[in-house]
Amino acid sequence: MAPRIVVLISGNGSNLQAIIDAINSKTLEGQIVLVVSNKKSAFGLTRATQAGLPTLTFPLKQYKDLGKTRIEYDLDLAKKIKEYNPNLIILAGWMHILSEEFLKCFDDIIINLHPALPNQFDGTNSIERAYEAFKKGDITKTGVMVHKVIPDVDKGEPLLIEEVPILETDSLDDLETRIHNVEHRLIVQGAKKILDELNR
Ligand code: GAR
Repeated sequence: MAPRIVVLISGNGSNLQAIIDAINSKTLEGQIVLVVSNKKSAFGLTRATQAGLPTLTFPLKQYKDLGKTRIEYDLDLAKKIKEYNPNLIILAGWMHILSEEFLKCFDDIIINLHPALPNQFDGTNSIERAYEAFKKGDITKTGVMVHKVIPDVDKGEPLLIEEVPILETDSLDDLETRIHNVEHRLIVQGAKKILDELNR
C-alpha cells in the first residue's frame, strides 16, 4: 500500500501542489490522506479540494477564544491526524510551532521545509531576511533545507540541504522565485528520502 501522507499548510500551498503533482506523475509513491490548514483562507485548501483530497481547517483562534491552551490545541490536532494513520507528516509552509506534546504523538515521521540554510533565518520571513542580509553584505548565498522536526523551530537533523545563489541583480521577487523552484523539487526528494529510511 502506498505510504499515507498528511500535509500541513498555512498559505499558498505551492509545495503541497508539488507533492500532489509528484504523486500524480508517479515520481513519488504515496497518497495524501489529509491536508490540514490552520488558516481558513489558505489557498492550499483550494488546491487540495481541486485535487480531491480531504481537508481539515484547524484554527488556533477558537481555542484561544475558549481560554484553552496551545498544548490542548496541539493534542487535539494530533488526535485528529492520528485518525488518518499517517506514515509521514510533511510541514509544507506550516507556520505554527508544534509543541513537544504534539511531536511525542508521532515517532520521527515529521519533516519540515525551510527556505534557508541550517541555523540561518529560523522562523518566519526567512527569504526577506536573507535578502536584506545579502544587501548589507553579511551573506553571499542562502538555501533551502528539508529536516526532521524536533521541538526547536527549524532545527532538527537536515535530510537535504541545497544552496541557492543570490545575484546582485536580484529583486526580492527574483530570489523568492528561485528559492521556491528549489523547494518544489527538494520537498519531493525529502519525502522520498524519509519514506525510504522509514521503510528500512
Ligand atoms: C515556503 O517557502 C516554506 O519553505 C516556508 O513557507 C513557504 C510556504 O510556501 N516555510 C517556512 O518558512 C517554515 N519556517 P507554500 O505555501 O507556497 O508551499
